[in-house]
Amino acid sequence: MTAATTVAEGSTLRLAVVGKGGVGKSTICATIARTIARRGGRVLVLDHDSMPGLSTSLGLQRADEPLLNAAMEQGEDRRYRFIDGLDPVSAVQRFAIDGPDGIRVLQVGKSTIAGPDAVQASVNAFYTIVRHVEHAPEFSGWAIVGDLPAGGRQPGCGWTPYATHFLLVVEATWQSMLTARRIKRIANDIRPDARVSLVVSKATGRGDIDRISDFLGMRAFGVVPLDEDVRTAERVGVPVFQHAPASVAVAAIAQIAERLAGEKHELASTGA
Ligand SMILES: Nc1ncnc2c1ncn2[C@@H]1O[C@H](COP(=O)(O)OP(=O)(O)OP(=O)(O)O)[C@@H](O)[C@H]1O
Ligand SMILES: [Mg+2]
Repeated sequence: MTAATTVAEGSTLRLAVVGKGGVGKSTICATIARTIARRGGRVLVLDHDSMPGLSTSLGLQRADEPLLNAAMEQGEDRRYRFIDGLDPVSAVQRFAIDGPDGIRVLQVGKSTIAGPDAVQASVNAFYTIVRHVEHAPEFSGWAIVGDLPAGGRQPGCGWTPYATHFLLVVEATWQSMLTARRIKRIANDIRPDARVSLVVSKATGRGDIDRISDFLGMRAFGVVPLDEDVRTAERVGVPVFQHAPASVAVAAIAQIAERLAGEKHELASTGA
């Protein structure tokens, strides 16, 4: 059975893409999502970042408005709750937007000049939703892929309870490696049954891979080479997946997506 067959059968992927700022998380997350979707998988992307980034990497047409604001209201006790008729799962169904290749995207909501208060309802709704999606029957068979903002704060503060697999994106700088080591500890701590897999990003050669692997004591699950096509795509504001589908970076990320999608099969075949 191939990974593609497994995708069509439905996915159990519950992934959070984590790492230091600017390492390539959104590029990798978006390209994984689109690869799985193109192969017939259903994909829900959770955009945890209150800063723009994923929208461009994914190729979303719509502005990053905090749509989930409409999902919640404040009671007299000032606490937020879902409006009548909505629950965490139906809120996803109603407020996730359509992305390319049939992907559904739920955004925490972007910060605006109106300040953080303007997105409070949306943030509260998102925080509640992430605790209900992992086993929701409505998303059985869907791949759920979260794009996290930089660092370990969100995983450490309970924003990734759905993730059974953390994709730790690391480039060969001290800051990135130190941050990764910290996030790895957090992930192990908050969810000991979750897998943490290393992706070496912007790799310039074997030296980068070995340095990061040695530092973290992990073998690389995937390697994404430094690729000028990614920067060019970014400059023109088009996903690299569309701008340069034959680029080495897209090929490398697609390979990672195949492995992730085939995981259920790999686990089943090893009896794990
Ligand atoms: N493989 C790569 N080769 C070259 N440039 C890359 C690669 N991956 C990402 N980049 C560039 O690095 C920058 C950051 O990428 P991206 O937005 O994907 O990172 P991020 O980790 O999501 O950042 P943030 O923490 O700000 O959300 C972008 O300018 C992107 O074009
Ligand atoms: Mg990002």
